[in-house]
Amino acid sequence: MPNIIFIAPLAAGKGTISEYLSKHLGYEHISTGDLFREIIKSGTSLGEEIKEIIAQGSLVDDDKTFQVLKQKLETLNNNQLFILDGYPRNINQAKLLNKLELNNIVVIFLNLDYDVAKKRALGRIICPNCKKTYNIYFDNLKPKVDNICDECHSKLEKRIDDTEETFKKRFNIYLEETREVISYYKDMNLLKEVNANQDINDVIKDVLKIVNGDKYDKY
Ligand code: AP5
Ligand code: MG
Repeated sequence: MPNIIFIAPLAAGKGTISEYLSKHLGYEHISTGDLFREIIKSGTSLGEEIKEIIAQGSLVDDDKTFQVLKQKLETLNNNQLFILDGYPRNINQAKLLNKLELNNIVVIFLNLDYDVAKKRALGRIICPNCKKTYNIYFDNLKPKVDNICDECHSKLEKRIDDTEETFKKRFNIYLEETREVISYYKDMNLLKEVNANQDINDVIKDVLKIVNGDKYDKY
């Protein structure tokens, strides 16, 4: 199986699909957003700085982001498969990543429409403890008990960047900066595309066709 880079707008399902792939296929899920949320929890001045940037819906500085990602990659065993969820988001980040000369990569572009992304972002609730993600608008993604995590029973919360205003800003950054990364990887012949507007089970099936043939257990 290949290592995976997910390129997508917000709320396309990068985290949800990664959670499935790590549970069923043993991938290490590396989300720069999650790494930043951990740094925020640490309460350091760097955490405060990052919190403000995320709350505004802007991107964290490229060099800082790359250092955080690189440090995480260095903790992996040589043969550990991984998913990059949320990196790279602009051409400069893609070029920095290239320097690491990672092998056996497939880049999966999760294509998602604006209105679908908006509904998903505004309906998202997450577990601050185990990071499992839910959605109040989709029956198969609701928690069994309102506002409580199925896995660890913590109280679910909204993300600070899932407001209507921040949504617009984040989607614009995707259109203006991240979409260029798609052409970059297309030119390198690494790109596959999946329609992320579908039901989560169909999206996962399409991703699995790219990753491991066709084996599938329902989400
Ligand atoms: P990050 O946490 O990565 O946010 P994002 O890229 O905006 O992506 P999301 O996490 O919002 O969406 P997702 O694709 O993971 O979707 P999910 O599975 O949750 O980054 C946050 C911030 O950190 C950035 O804005 C930036 O400030 C900073 N940052 C991160 N990386 C950076 C970088 N490289 N450089 C600079 N700054 C960086 O699904 C969304 C919702 O929809 C959930 O509720 C889910 O249950 C539901 N859902 C999923 N799939 C489906 C489906 N098929 N049908 C219906 N509902 C679905
Ligand atoms: Mg995510």
